[in-house]
Amino acid sequence: MATYDLVVIGTGPGGYVCAVRASQLGMKVAVVEKNASLGGTCLNVGCMPSKALLHASEMFEEAAHSFAKMGVSISAPKLDLPAMMNFKQQGIDGNVKGVEFLMKKNKIDVLKGSGKILGTGKVEVSADGKSQVIETKNIVIATGSDIARLKGIEIDEKRIVSSTGALSLEKAPGRLLVIGAGVIGLELGSVWRRLGSEVMVVEFLDRILPGMDGEVARQFQRILEKQGFAFKLGSKVTGVESNGKALLAKIEPAAGGAAETIEADVVLVCIGRVPYTDGLGLKEAGVALDNRGRVQIDAHFATTLKGVYAIGDVVAGPMLAHKAEDEGVAVAEILAGQAGHVNYDVIPGVVYTTPEVSSVGKTEEELKQAGVAYTVGKFPFTANGRSKVNQTTDGFVKILADAKTDRVLGVHIVGREAGEMIHEACVLMEFGGSAEDLARTCHAHPTRSEAVKEAALAVGKRAIHM
Ligand code: FAD
Ligand code: NAI
Repeated sequence: MATYDLVVIGTGPGGYVCAVRASQLGMKVAVVEKNASLGGTCLNVGCMPSKALLHASEMFEEAAHSFAKMGVSISAPKLDLPAMMNFKQQGIDGNVKGVEFLMKKNKIDVLKGSGKILGTGKVEVSADGKSQVIETKNIVIATGSDIARLKGIEIDEKRIVSSTGALSLEKAPGRLLVIGAGVIGLELGSVWRRLGSEVMVVEFLDRILPGMDGEVARQFQRILEKQGFAFKLGSKVTGVESNGKALLAKIEPAAGGAAETIEADVVLVCIGRVPYTDGLGLKEAGVALDNRGRVQIDAHFATTLKGVYAIGDVVAGPMLAHKAEDEGVAVAEILAGQAGHVNYDVIPGVVYTTPEVSSVGKTEEELKQAGVAYTVGKFPFTANGRSKVNQTTDGFVKILADAKTDRVLGVHIVGREAGEMIHEACVLMEFGGSAEDLARTCHAHPTRSEAVKEAALAVGKRAIHM
């Protein structure tokens, strides 16, 4: 007799949400976690700490640069970085406690230790030199991802840091060199720029934010440059040395050519993340990986070993917390005999900078490549009343709709609170809605979301305020 119906390995947003949903569906569930605290990358060294620092550093910048023009007169704000780090830690602790509470509330056993799959229905949990074997009907692998490293560049988390070190620097570096113009580089680059660093971003490709809509990325790059970011696109860092005082980064054009040396005080390596399967014993157990080291699954999250499933960053798809959560729910429902499902066409992506960037569905580049005829509706925040009165008019909303059916295929927003605004597009797209549906939906005035409605009107060439 199996002790559990389900054992989930990993308690990130994929794992703990899967455990909660399975418990709601009547299963007896345990989670296995090797980290000292629950919550995975997201709560401990990812989404949550980065958003806490983004919020605090934004307030610092606002106090320094925006208060005066609104008639709020204060003396120049001073940075108390230890207090800001404490603010971040309180946020982490609060969320970790929240997950502990959810485990208790749902009667989920928390097994502290490293999980290893011995075969169908058997998980070994090891901690402090001791191990026990747990029997279970089903296993879900939710072990997430780890930072991708650059050959020859040793991360010490002090001067050459990954996102983890960049979330805990003891002072704002004079010069921060960021390798990789992806989400982490732009978010954490923003944090340290606001706190006083000169930030240069070196990116291998000839654009920032690969995968996002090209026009959005170009506009956003211009906005970041106005804020003080420097970009070196089409370039790669081939080595970082120290001369005692400073770090010397050797940078070459991606296509080859003469190298140059750039000095920095801290180098942040953020060139992506890789699936994490160390110590799980997958090969011996017969769980296959794909050619990129991700756990191979079928359309129902099943691996190549009976009774073993996988979700989140450790499998294919965007490495996003909400994608992991939705997969966690779907696999729990499948195990309960329901029709668990994730619609991969409607997974929003948000960059939590100022302004924010958000996106759902297809980009123009993807539609062109697929040969889909589409119409574009665009509306700038300069023409949105609320944005005007708040004097935060950077950015625009862009809606891509099928030229024949008017069905919305993609929505891309650069602007304050873009990460909140994208969800009306998500709901619309889940219901297969058209630009006309959105254009005829009453939006409260004055809100930034009116720009979404106006962009939908613009698809039919009838925006009112433009
Ligand atoms: P994880 O959260 O990585 O959790 C995996 C867990 O498994 C860990 O706790 C690990 O200790 C445990 N584990 C691994 N192996 C074992 C084992 N053998 N035994 C026991 N336990 C094990 N995503 C967003 O959607 N929004 C954001 O704003 C965002 N910001 C981010 C910022 C940063 C700096 C980083 C690094 C990532 C960010 N992400 C963000 C990505 C997000 O953190 C991940 O997509 C998400 O955490 C993946 O969830 P997961 O459950 O698959 O894995
Ligand atoms: P990323 O994949 O977003 O960006 C990495 C960037 O580095 C790319 O632009 C890539 O072209 C570039 N690059 C790769 N090799 C390079 C090299 N040798 N030299 C220079 N540039 C190079 O990865 P990132 O920023 O590390 O984030 C990892 C993951 O974490 C992402 O997949 C993202 O989904 C997730 N994340 C999500 C956040 C959010 O949703 N707001 C925030 C932070 C992370």
